[in-house]
Amino acid sequence: MPEGHVPSEHAVVTGGSSGIGLAVVRRLMKRGLAVTVLDMQPPPDGVPQAYRIDVTDEARVREALAEAARAAGTPTRLVTCHGIRGEFKPALELDLDVYRRVLDVHLVGTLVTARSLVAGMLAAGLGGGSIVTISSTTAYGGWRDQADYGVAKAAIEQLTQNLAIEWAPHGIRVNAVAPGHTLTPMVQEMVDKEGYDLSATEARMPLGRLCTPDEMAAAIEFMLLDATFSTGVRMPVDGGWTVVGK
Ligand SMILES: NC(=O)c1ccc[n+]([C@@H]2O[C@H](COP(=O)([O-])OP(=O)(O)OC[C@H]3O[C@@H](n4cnc5c(N)ncnc54)[C@H](O)[C@@H]3O)[C@@H](O)[C@H]2O)c1
Repeated sequence: MPEGHVPSEHAVVTGGSSGIGLAVVRRLMKRGLAVTVLDMQPPPDGVPQAYRIDVTDEARVREALAEAARAAGTPTRLVTCHGIRGEFKPALELDLDVYRRVLDVHLVGTLVTARSLVAGMLAAGLGGGSIVTISSTTAYGGWRDQADYGVAKAAIEQLTQNLAIEWAPHGIRVNAVAPGHTLTPMVQEMVDKEGYDLSATEARMPLGRLCTPDEMAAAIEFMLLDATFSTGVRMPVDGGWTVVGK
């Protein structure tokens, strides 16, 4: 059966209780997959299997994945949609404790969940499957006040390429989707609490608007289930933001 049509499969979505991750959960459930959410906050109603955990805690992640495997079969798909904001401050003003936490959640959390999934697959004698990591357009070029979040996202892209090479012999594809501005609770909080100006973003955006969580999830679903000859790819989904020449 082609990789894109395997309704009995089991996918894990980190950060699946909100925003882009929740939109991915809904799409994968519609596609017939069993879905397990790993998130620090509870999911909304309708998501059957969820664990409230911090993805940087490897022992808890492995425990949760083992329990999820007993319930719905060994998971062979992963989308790492967890994330927190950086401080949005100049490098000279960054608090190092926060800096370490931003790197820990984004980068270490991605490595921990990816290798926990793959360790479980290999122990069960399974190959194939795929992983989509989530970076950001802030991974491309230098951005003001992004020495924490942007650096973490660039590191996720490097990690993605390394894991793609390491796990290709097992038939496991690893790709990164780099979202541009998407109207999720994370961005809404910036608008509500800090007066972030969406109209300036829309004015610079070639497509003239922000992405919806479901549009972003569609690109992630494609990479996870349908792009069966792609691995090590970093795919911006950004309304043309990164290719503007001025
Ligand atoms: N929204 C955007 O414009 C945008 C742009 C580029 C990249 N991204 C990235 O997309 C991903 C999803 O972002 P979103 O906008 O949907 O955010 P969101 O805040 O709506 O969702 C993020 C989820 O991650 C969970 N989370 C945070 N830290 C965690 C941890 N340590 N362990 C487990 N769960 C944790 C949160 O509880 C939340 O449910 C993030 O990686 C974010 O950096 C978003």
